[in-house]
Amino acid sequence: MKVTKICCIGAGYVGGPTMSVIAQKCPDIKVTVVDINQTRIDAWNDPDLSNLPVYEPGLDKVVAEARGRNLFFSTDVIKAIEESEMIFISVNTPTKTYGEGKGMAADLKWVELCARQIATASKEDKIVVEKSTLPVRTAQAVKDILVNTGNGLKFQILSNPEFLAEGTAIEDLESPDRVLIGGDDTPEGKIAIQALVDIYARWVPKDRILTTNVWSSELSKLTANAFLAQRVSSINALSELCEVTGADVSEVAKAIGTDSRIGSKFLKASVGFGGSCFQKDILNMVYICRSYQLNEVADYWEQVIKMNDHQKARFAKKIIKSLYNTVSGKKITFLGWAFKKDTNDTRESAAIYVADHLLSEQAKICVYDPKVNQEKVYADLEYLNTRSSDENRRHVKVMNDPYEACKDSHAIAILTEWDEFKTYDWEKIYQNMLKPATLFDGRNILSKEEMTKIGFRFYAIGKP
Ligand code: UDX
Ligand code: UDX
Ligand code: ADP
Repeated sequence: MKVTKICCIGAGYVGGPTMSVIAQKCPDIKVTVVDINQTRIDAWNDPDLSNLPVYEPGLDKVVAEARGRNLFFSTDVIKAIEESEMIFISVNTPTKTYGEGKGMAADLKWVELCARQIATASKEDKIVVEKSTLPVRTAQAVKDILVNTGNGLKFQILSNPEFLAEGTAIEDLESPDRVLIGGDDTPEGKIAIQALVDIYARWVPKDRILTTNVWSSELSKLTANAFLAQRVSSINALSELCEVTGADVSEVAKAIGTDSRIGSKFLKASVGFGGSCFQKDILNMVYICRSYQLNEVADYWEQVIKMNDHQKARFAKKIIKSLYNTVSGKKITFLGWAFKKDTNDTRESAAIYVADHLLSEQAKICVYDPKVNQEKVYADLEYLNTRSSDENRRHVKVMNDPYEACKDSHAIAILTEWDEFKTYDWEKIYQNMLKPATLFDGRNILSKEEMTKIGFRFYAIGKP
């Protein structure tokens, strides 16, 4: 079966870049990305590519090449479903904030809505591809809805989890370590799997395209994120031990990373992991384990999150302690708000939690991030519901210039590892600060030697 038209429901951090790359690599396939959010779609269609809603290095070039040729962004969900042979579901699946499974389970209301829309709009058989990270056995729920409401049409459900990391999405999509496709082990299932394999095979070597059953595919995505997050929590746990023993976490990471069984990647100690996936996926895994009464397994994975919460709190406490146990009324500058460099995404960013902690101690926070705007910072704080929106706006200022942001502050905290922070004129920043001037490097990107030479009191993660 040759697919000529595909659509993707959800034009976010996953759907947008993924479909842009598919369109770029397959000029003969019409790719339509739809979203209910008109503002988002308008931004994807903006002639000025610096206004795309997702910031990813290299994404503008891909969009420039394919948009209007075979890549389209629209809010007409029904029409796109109707005309496509293959439909990707790439909507958000945040942790539930209400009811049964609150704070743990994934909220599938948007996925269910998609399934119902597909059922309503379809006039022919379709292949439906789950792209969003979903709890194991969601495919069954999607299938149930389609079978029961889909006018007797035949639907094949595939699981094709996305492994791209934000900030390197285009690179990851162009040369993925692997592409994973799960589907039914029936003749129709195999045809559907093959149709999707054929799309990726245009640019991904065949031996990197893995096919499995649907459940293995769904569970692999949760497991990959749990393992990755576990590495970060493990090295972060070690960072605290390093600080008290006099070991240096970077040296330890290097020493253990050279063991090929361990590997060198993903061993950077930090103020804590963030992003839309790690915490959500682990909570989800924990919830699933508990629902099968696998309490030891659930506790084991939950510890990865607890360690991460501890790391964020520890960083905030370190700041307070170093500033003579009070930050009340003191200006503290945050360099970076995004959850990692090269993205404008701030979901679950450590910066939010560190700020919240300091605000509860009455600090005044000034934020500079090269890609995150003021309204996003306020929205992130409001989402926590710790204090009124008015208070957040009074105590947090967002600036467009890093030097202005740092002026007259007692301390600077680096929350995101943006490259530009390394090349700042730190001498000049130091001159304009209140003394003693303290620098908390939550990402270990600056040299302690150089910073202390300038005059800073310097604190890094996991360093003696
Ligand atoms: C270990 C370290 O590997 C070695 O570097 C160190 O110097 C001493 O401790 P060892 O205990 O000899 O070496 O064997 P290892 O291969 O690490 O296996 C340890 C245990 O883990 C074994 O019981 C092995 O069966 C088990 N294991 C290992 C698994 O169950 N699964 C695996 O994937 C790997
Ligand atoms: C992650 C997975 O890597 C990706 O495969 C999956 O598809 C989605 O979730 P992402 O959240 O975009 O991707 O970024 P990632 O690079 O994994 O970083 C997650 C968080 O961990 C960031 O806050 C990052 O700063 C932190 N991190 C990562 C560390 O603190 N240390 C490290 O060594 C690596
Ligand atoms: P991700 O990081 O998984 O891509 P995002 O939140 O960035 O998550 O993107 C998900 C997108 O899906 C949002 O832009 C949201 O408006 C869109 N969306 C959610 N439900 C629907 C729906 N039923 N129909 C169309 N778009 C939807």
